[in-house]
Amino acid sequence: MSMKEKQYETMLAQLEGLIAGERNMMSVLSNASALMREVMGERYFWVGFYLVENDQLVLGPFQGSVACYRIGHGRGVCGTAWAQARTQVVPDVEAFPGHIACSSLSRSEIVVPLLDGQGIVRGVLDIDSKELAQFDETDARYLERAAAIIARELW
Ligand code: SME
Repeated sequence: MSMKEKQYETMLAQLEGLIAGERNMMSVLSNASALMREVMGERYFWVGFYLVENDQLVLGPFQGSVACYRIGHGRGVCGTAWAQARTQVVPDVEAFPGHIACSSLSRSEIVVPLLDGQGIVRGVLDIDSKELAQFDETDARYLERAAAIIARELW
């Protein structure tokens, strides 16, 4: 098992315990973002949530620098993950058509949809890195498990 996989195994185990039994959305998402940043450290430059509100994604709890408040359906990486209900792995944000630059320091990112019991997207988990190509299939696999743990508790 790689170092990264070990970190993700730790993250998932801690996440299960951390949010078990708490249903307040802001509290759960705040602690989830804090835990992810704590475990992954500098590998995550920005980690947080955008939540579906009518026809937009609205900024939720996060760790990192200030970010855009609202993202339209199908806009940027987050809006695309929402529209397609599929994880987006972006090795170079400048090569992604319509990427929304909240911070010029962000170079690569991964966005994972949060699905409710009916498979409806209720929000997204967005993680950015200052380095190019920081995310791959391993990140996608583990972060989809993290998203499922969180969504199961909330929706
Ligand atoms: N880069 C995102 C916008 C959100 S910030 O990175 C926090 C996007 O294109 O969806």
